[in-house]
Amino acid sequence: MRSFEEYKALINENLTSFIPEVNKYSATVRDAMKYSLEIGGKRLRPVLLLAACDFAGGNIEEALPYAAALEYIHTYSLIHDDLPAMDNDDFRRGKPTNHKVYGEAMAVLAGDGLLNTAAEVIASQLSLYFNNHDKLVNHAKAGAEIIRRAGINGMIGGQVADVENEYNTADSVLVEYIEEHKCGDLITAPVVAGLLLAGAEQHIIDDFEKYAMNMGIAFQVLDDILDFEGDEKLIGKKVGKDKDIGKCNYVCVHSLDDAKAQLAQLTEAAVDALAKYGKSAEFFTELAEAMKIRKA
Ligand code: IPE
Ligand code: IPE
Ligand code: MG
Ligand code: MG
Ligand code: MG
Repeated sequence: MRSFEEYKALINENLTSFIPEVNKYSATVRDAMKYSLEIGGKRLRPVLLLAACDFAGGNIEEALPYAAALEYIHTYSLIHDDLPAMDNDDFRRGKPTNHKVYGEAMAVLAGDGLLNTAAEVIASQLSLYFNNHDKLVNHAKAGAEIIRRAGINGMIGGQVADVENEYNTADSVLVEYIEEHKCGDLITAPVVAGLLLAGAEQHIIDDFEKYAMNMGIAFQVLDDILDFEGDEKLIGKKVGKDKDIGKCNYVCVHSLDDAKAQLAQLTEAAVDALAKYGKSAEFFTELAEAMKIRKA
Protein backbone atom coordinates (compact mmCIF):
# COMPACT_ATOMS: atom_id res chain seq x y z
CA MET A 1 0.00 0.00 0.00
CA ARG A 2 1.12 3.58 -0.68
CA SER A 3 0.38 6.71 1.33
CA PHE A 4 -2.61 8.98 0.74
CA GLU A 5 -0.29 11.62 -0.73
CA GLU A 6 1.27 9.11 -3.14
CA TYR A 7 -2.11 7.96 -4.46
CA LYS A 8 -3.21 11.59 -4.68
CA ALA A 9 -0.13 12.54 -6.69
CA LEU A 10 -0.79 9.70 -9.12
CA ILE A 11 -4.35 10.93 -9.57
CA ASN A 12 -3.36 14.56 -10.03
CA GLU A 13 -0.74 13.61 -12.65
CA ASN A 14 -3.31 11.70 -14.68
CA LEU A 15 -6.58 13.41 -13.85
CA THR A 16 -7.32 15.28 -17.06
CA SER A 17 -5.60 12.83 -19.41
CA PHE A 18 -8.82 10.86 -19.97
CA ILE A 19 -10.76 13.87 -21.27
CA PRO A 20 -11.01 13.68 -25.07
CA GLU A 21 -9.57 16.41 -27.29
CA VAL A 22 -12.20 18.65 -28.88
CA ASN A 23 -12.51 21.04 -31.81
CA LYS A 24 -12.73 24.81 -31.40
CA TYR A 25 -16.51 24.74 -30.97
CA SER A 26 -16.26 22.69 -27.77
CA ALA A 27 -13.10 24.28 -26.40
CA THR A 28 -14.92 26.39 -23.79
CA VAL A 29 -16.69 23.47 -22.18
CA ARG A 30 -13.46 21.51 -22.00
CA ASP A 31 -11.75 24.50 -20.35
CA ALA A 32 -14.61 24.81 -17.86
CA MET A 33 -14.40 21.11 -17.02
CA LYS A 34 -10.65 21.37 -16.46
CA TYR A 35 -11.04 24.54 -14.40
CA SER A 36 -13.09 22.86 -11.69
CA LEU A 37 -10.96 19.72 -11.73
CA GLU A 38 -7.71 21.62 -11.42
CA ILE A 39 -8.55 24.23 -8.75
CA GLY A 40 -8.02 21.68 -6.01
CA GLY A 41 -9.92 19.15 -3.96
CA LYS A 42 -8.91 16.51 -1.48
CA ARG A 43 -9.24 13.67 -4.05
CA LEU A 44 -10.65 11.47 -1.29
CA ARG A 45 -12.84 9.42 -3.60
CA PRO A 46 -10.27 8.52 -6.28
CA VAL A 47 -7.66 7.83 -3.60
CA LEU A 48 -10.09 5.40 -1.97
CA LEU A 49 -10.57 3.64 -5.29
CA LEU A 50 -6.85 3.14 -5.89
CA ALA A 51 -6.24 2.13 -2.28
CA ALA A 52 -9.07 -0.42 -2.25
CA CYS A 53 -7.82 -1.94 -5.50
CA ASP A 54 -4.27 -2.04 -4.15
CA PHE A 55 -5.42 -3.57 -0.86
CA ALA A 56 -7.04 -6.47 -2.70
CA GLY A 57 -3.98 -7.07 -4.88
CA GLY A 58 -5.31 -5.38 -8.03
CA ASN A 59 -3.44 -3.35 -10.61
CA ILE A 60 -3.67 0.35 -9.78
CA GLU A 61 -2.67 1.42 -13.30
CA GLU A 62 -5.81 -0.33 -14.53
CA ALA A 63 -7.79 1.36 -11.75
CA LEU A 64 -6.66 4.90 -12.63
CA PRO A 65 -9.31 5.57 -15.32
CA TYR A 66 -12.05 4.59 -12.87
CA ALA A 67 -10.52 6.80 -10.18
CA ALA A 68 -10.51 9.71 -12.64
CA ALA A 69 -14.09 8.94 -13.67
CA LEU A 70 -15.14 9.06 -10.03
CA GLU A 71 -13.51 12.46 -9.55
CA TYR A 72 -15.22 13.71 -12.75
CA ILE A 73 -18.59 12.65 -11.33
CA HIS A 74 -17.84 14.20 -7.94
CA THR A 75 -16.69 17.45 -9.57
CA TYR A 76 -19.77 17.62 -11.80
CA SER A 77 -21.93 17.17 -8.70
CA LEU A 78 -20.18 20.14 -7.09
CA ILE A 79 -20.50 22.38 -10.17
CA HIS A 80 -24.24 21.69 -10.36
CA ASP A 81 -24.65 21.89 -6.56
CA ASP A 82 -23.19 25.42 -6.62
CA LEU A 83 -25.49 26.75 -9.36
CA PRO A 84 -27.95 29.52 -8.46
CA ALA A 85 -30.79 27.04 -9.03
CA MET A 86 -29.34 24.83 -6.30
CA ASP A 87 -27.14 26.18 -3.47
CA ASN A 88 -26.10 29.40 -5.21
CA ASP A 89 -22.48 29.37 -4.04
CA ASP A 90 -19.75 31.74 -5.21
CA PHE A 91 -16.73 29.86 -3.90
CA ARG A 92 -15.57 26.28 -4.21
CA ARG A 93 -12.17 24.84 -3.43
CA GLY A 94 -11.14 28.38 -2.50
CA LYS A 95 -11.81 29.73 -6.00
CA PRO A 96 -14.82 31.26 -7.78
CA THR A 97 -17.41 28.62 -8.67
CA ASN A 98 -17.65 27.37 -12.23
CA HIS A 99 -20.67 29.48 -13.16
CA LYS A 100 -18.98 32.59 -11.75
CA VAL A 101 -16.19 32.12 -14.27
CA TYR A 102 -17.93 30.55 -17.26
CA GLY A 103 -21.60 31.53 -16.79
CA GLU A 104 -24.51 29.34 -15.83
CA ALA A 105 -25.17 27.74 -19.19
CA MET A 106 -21.56 26.67 -19.59
CA ALA A 107 -21.43 25.42 -15.99
CA VAL A 108 -24.43 23.19 -16.65
CA LEU A 109 -22.69 21.88 -19.76
CA ALA A 110 -19.36 21.43 -17.97
CA GLY A 111 -21.14 19.27 -15.39
CA ASP A 112 -22.85 17.32 -18.17
CA GLY A 113 -19.50 17.00 -19.92
CA LEU A 114 -17.80 15.59 -16.83
CA LEU A 115 -20.57 13.07 -16.20
CA ASN A 116 -20.61 11.95 -19.82
CA THR A 117 -16.83 11.74 -19.95
CA ALA A 118 -16.90 9.52 -16.87
CA ALA A 119 -19.31 7.18 -18.68
CA GLU A 120 -17.14 7.24 -21.81
CA VAL A 121 -14.02 6.42 -19.82
CA ILE A 122 -15.70 3.51 -18.05
CA ALA A 123 -17.29 2.12 -21.21
CA SER A 124 -14.05 2.40 -23.18
CA GLN A 125 -12.15 0.45 -20.52
CA LEU A 126 -14.38 -2.56 -21.06
CA SER A 127 -13.30 -3.00 -24.67
CA LEU A 128 -9.73 -3.59 -23.44
CA TYR A 129 -10.77 -6.81 -21.72
CA PHE A 130 -12.96 -8.56 -24.31
CA ASN A 131 -10.49 -11.43 -24.49
CA ASN A 132 -10.19 -11.83 -20.72
CA HIS A 133 -13.54 -12.94 -19.36
CA ASP A 134 -12.76 -12.69 -15.64
CA LYS A 135 -11.33 -9.21 -15.93
CA LEU A 136 -14.16 -8.09 -18.17
CA VAL A 137 -16.66 -9.17 -15.51
CA ASN A 138 -14.73 -7.43 -12.72
CA HIS A 139 -14.43 -4.21 -14.70
CA ALA A 140 -18.08 -4.26 -15.79
CA LYS A 141 -19.17 -4.71 -12.18
CA ALA A 142 -16.92 -1.87 -10.99
CA GLY A 143 -18.20 0.49 -13.70
CA ALA A 144 -21.81 -0.38 -12.92
CA GLU A 145 -21.22 0.24 -9.22
CA ILE A 146 -19.89 3.75 -9.89
CA ILE A 147 -22.66 4.72 -12.30
CA ARG A 148 -25.41 3.26 -10.09
CA ARG A 149 -24.28 4.98 -6.90
CA ALA A 150 -24.07 8.29 -8.75
CA GLY A 151 -27.65 7.82 -9.95
CA ILE A 152 -31.21 8.56 -8.90
CA ASN A 153 -31.11 6.04 -6.06
CA GLY A 154 -27.67 7.32 -5.10
CA MET A 155 -26.05 10.76 -5.18
CA ILE A 156 -28.67 12.34 -7.46
CA GLY A 157 -31.42 10.89 -5.25
CA GLY A 158 -29.79 12.46 -2.19
CA GLN A 159 -29.59 15.81 -3.96
CA VAL A 160 -33.29 15.56 -4.91
CA ALA A 161 -34.22 15.05 -1.26
CA ASP A 162 -31.90 17.93 -0.33
CA VAL A 163 -33.56 20.26 -2.85
CA GLU A 164 -36.95 19.37 -1.39
CA ASN A 165 -35.69 19.74 2.18
CA GLU A 166 -37.48 22.65 3.83
CA TYR A 167 -36.04 24.25 6.94
CA ASN A 168 -39.20 23.95 9.04
CA THR A 169 -40.38 20.50 8.05
CA ALA A 170 -37.13 18.51 7.78
CA ASP A 171 -36.83 15.58 10.18
CA SER A 172 -34.04 13.22 11.15
CA VAL A 173 -35.22 10.44 8.79
CA LEU A 174 -35.05 12.79 5.80
CA VAL A 175 -31.67 14.17 6.84
CA GLU A 176 -30.24 10.68 7.29
CA TYR A 177 -31.47 9.75 3.81
CA ILE A 178 -29.80 12.87 2.41
CA GLU A 179 -26.47 12.18 4.16
CA GLU A 180 -26.42 8.55 3.06
CA HIS A 181 -27.14 9.26 -0.58
CA LYS A 182 -25.83 12.69 -1.52
CA CYS A 183 -22.49 11.91 0.12
CA GLY A 184 -22.26 8.34 1.44
CA ASP A 185 -22.86 6.73 -1.94
CA LEU A 186 -20.04 8.58 -3.71
CA ILE A 187 -17.64 7.54 -0.94
CA THR A 188 -18.83 3.93 -0.93
CA ALA A 189 -18.70 3.59 -4.73
CA PRO A 190 -14.91 3.93 -5.05
CA VAL A 191 -14.19 1.50 -2.22
CA VAL A 192 -16.48 -1.18 -3.62
CA ALA A 193 -15.41 -0.51 -7.22
CA GLY A 194 -11.72 -0.71 -6.32
CA LEU A 195 -12.25 -4.08 -4.67
CA LEU A 196 -14.34 -5.32 -7.58
CA LEU A 197 -11.58 -4.38 -10.04
CA ALA A 198 -9.20 -6.53 -8.02
CA GLY A 199 -11.67 -9.42 -7.96
CA ALA A 200 -12.01 -9.36 -4.16
CA GLU A 201 -14.26 -11.88 -2.45
CA GLN A 202 -17.79 -10.84 -1.52
CA HIS A 203 -17.27 -11.00 2.26
CA ILE A 204 -14.39 -8.51 1.94
CA ILE A 205 -16.53 -6.23 -0.20
CA ASP A 206 -19.30 -6.42 2.43
CA ASP A 207 -16.94 -5.38 5.26
CA PHE A 208 -15.46 -2.52 3.26
CA GLU A 209 -18.88 -1.36 2.11
CA LYS A 210 -19.85 -1.04 5.76
CA TYR A 211 -16.64 0.86 6.46
CA ALA A 212 -17.14 3.21 3.54
CA MET A 213 -20.81 3.98 4.14
CA ASN A 214 -20.18 4.79 7.80
CA MET A 215 -17.24 7.01 6.87
CA GLY A 216 -19.24 8.56 4.02
CA ILE A 217 -22.15 9.52 6.27
CA ALA A 218 -19.67 10.79 8.88
CA PHE A 219 -18.08 12.88 6.13
CA GLN A 220 -21.37 14.66 5.45
CA VAL A 221 -22.18 15.08 9.15
CA LEU A 222 -18.84 16.86 9.48
CA ASP A 223 -19.56 18.88 6.33
CA ASP A 224 -22.73 20.02 8.10
CA ILE A 225 -20.75 20.79 11.29
CA LEU A 226 -18.21 22.78 9.27
CA ASP A 227 -21.08 24.61 7.57
CA PHE A 228 -22.00 25.71 11.09
CA GLU A 229 -18.63 26.45 12.67
CA GLY A 230 -15.94 25.92 10.03
CA ASP A 231 -13.32 28.38 8.83
CA GLU A 232 -14.16 29.67 5.34
CA LYS A 233 -10.49 30.13 4.49
CA LEU A 234 -9.78 26.50 5.25
CA ILE A 235 -12.86 24.90 3.68
CA GLY A 236 -12.75 27.14 0.62
CA LYS A 237 -16.51 27.67 0.57
CA LYS A 238 -19.01 29.83 2.39
CA VAL A 239 -20.02 28.96 5.96
CA GLY A 240 -23.62 29.17 7.18
CA LYS A 241 -24.93 28.39 3.72
CA ASP A 242 -27.40 25.65 4.55
CA LYS A 243 -29.50 27.82 6.87
CA ASP A 244 -29.29 30.78 4.47
CA ILE A 245 -30.90 28.75 1.71
CA GLY A 246 -33.51 27.17 3.98
CA LYS A 247 -31.91 23.74 4.39
CA CYS A 248 -32.06 21.93 7.69
CA ASN A 249 -28.95 19.74 7.86
CA TYR A 250 -27.76 17.30 10.55
CA VAL A 251 -26.76 20.03 13.00
CA CYS A 252 -30.09 21.80 12.56
CA VAL A 253 -32.31 18.74 12.96
CA HIS A 254 -30.32 17.49 15.97
CA SER A 255 -27.77 19.82 17.65
CA LEU A 256 -24.09 20.60 17.32
CA ASP A 257 -23.27 18.29 20.23
CA ASP A 258 -25.38 15.46 18.81
CA ALA A 259 -23.70 15.92 15.42
CA LYS A 260 -20.26 15.65 17.00
CA ALA A 261 -21.30 12.55 18.95
CA GLN A 262 -22.70 11.02 15.76
CA LEU A 263 -19.48 11.84 13.89
CA ALA A 264 -17.49 9.96 16.54
CA GLN A 265 -19.89 7.02 16.53
CA LEU A 266 -19.95 6.66 12.75
CA THR A 267 -16.15 6.83 12.61
CA GLU A 268 -15.92 4.13 15.24
CA ALA A 269 -18.36 1.97 13.28
CA ALA A 270 -16.23 2.47 10.15
CA VAL A 271 -13.06 1.44 11.97
CA ASP A 272 -14.79 -1.52 13.65
CA ALA A 273 -15.98 -2.84 10.30
CA LEU A 274 -12.33 -3.50 9.41
CA ALA A 275 -11.12 -4.69 12.83
CA LYS A 276 -10.60 -8.25 11.62
CA TYR A 277 -8.09 -7.07 9.01
CA GLY A 278 -5.80 -5.62 11.68
CA LYS A 279 -2.75 -3.75 10.47
CA SER A 280 -3.30 -4.68 6.84
CA ALA A 281 -6.27 -2.26 6.73
CA GLU A 282 -4.65 0.57 8.67
CA PHE A 283 -4.58 2.82 5.61
CA PHE A 284 -8.38 2.84 5.75
CA THR A 285 -8.85 3.01 9.52
CA GLU A 286 -6.30 5.83 9.83
CA LEU A 287 -8.03 7.66 6.99
CA ALA A 288 -11.39 7.45 8.79
CA GLU A 289 -9.78 8.89 11.92
CA ALA A 290 -8.10 11.65 9.89
CA MET A 291 -11.36 12.53 8.16
CA LYS A 292 -13.05 12.86 11.56
CA ILE A 293 -10.77 15.76 12.49
CA ARG A 294 -10.42 17.40 9.08
CA LYS A 295 -10.82 21.17 8.98
CA ALA A 296 -11.15 21.36 5.18
C1 IPE B 1 -17.74 18.22 -0.85
O1 IPE B 1 -16.86 17.16 -0.95
C2 IPE B 1 -19.14 17.77 -1.04
C3 IPE B 1 -19.63 16.87 -0.01
C4 IPE B 1 -20.11 15.71 -0.28
C5 IPE B 1 -19.62 17.28 1.39
P1 IPE B 1 -15.33 17.29 -0.56
O2 IPE B 1 -15.22 17.93 0.79
O3 IPE B 1 -14.67 15.97 -0.72
O4 IPE B 1 -14.81 18.32 -1.65
P2 IPE B 1 -13.39 18.44 -2.38
O5 IPE B 1 -13.37 17.40 -3.45
O6 IPE B 1 -12.31 18.22 -1.36
O7 IPE B 1 -13.40 19.82 -2.93
C1 IPE C 1 -23.51 18.44 -1.73
O1 IPE C 1 -23.77 18.67 -0.40
C2 IPE C 1 -23.15 17.05 -1.98
C3 IPE C 1 -23.11 16.85 -3.43
C4 IPE C 1 -23.65 15.82 -3.99
C5 IPE C 1 -22.45 17.82 -4.29
P1 IPE C 1 -23.50 20.15 0.09
O2 IPE C 1 -24.33 21.11 -0.69
O3 IPE C 1 -23.62 20.18 1.57
O4 IPE C 1 -21.97 20.30 -0.31
P2 IPE C 1 -21.15 21.64 -0.14
O5 IPE C 1 -21.24 22.01 1.32
O6 IPE C 1 -21.75 22.66 -1.05
O7 IPE C 1 -19.75 21.23 -0.53
MG1 MG D 1 -26.13 21.09 -1.71
MG1 MG E 1 -23.66 22.97 -1.54
MG1 MG F 1 -22.39 21.35 2.83
